[in-house]
Amino acid sequence: MAAPDAARRAELEGLLRNDCGACHGGRLHGGLGPALTPAALAGRDPAALAATILAGRPGTPMPPWRGLLSEEDARWLAERLIMGERNDAP
Ligand code: HEC
Repeated sequence: MAAPDAARRAELEGLLRNDCGACHGGRLHGGLGPALTPAALAGRDPAALAATILAGRPGTPMPPWRGLLSEEDARWLAERLIMGERNDAP
């Protein structure tokens, strides 16, 4: 399956700001959930972060996003979080 296109990436940016931001902070500097900035996530495995996004963390407030997000969406989000806003190459 293909990586999310530009329109989908714009939707995912909105999700990050609004939904994820509700817990992780509007600028993802942390809140109820930990910071999701490039500095906080340096050296992390994008596949592992994508798995956390899809499955959530049972026993914590981090909800599962499977159903709303495809594997490709989650992978793009993980890489976007690790790299910061530079991850908008076509
Ligand atoms: C209801 C609150 C809430 C929402 C909404 C939420 N998260 Fe989380 N998230 C958390 C919490 C709390 C943790 C820490 C869980 C733990 O203790 O391991 C977490 C952990 C994570 C982690 C793992 C961080 C690490 O360092 O291992 C990632 C990645 C993540 N969230 C991404 C997202 C994304 C992307 C979204 C939006 C699609 C999102 N979260 C929405 C609460 C939330």
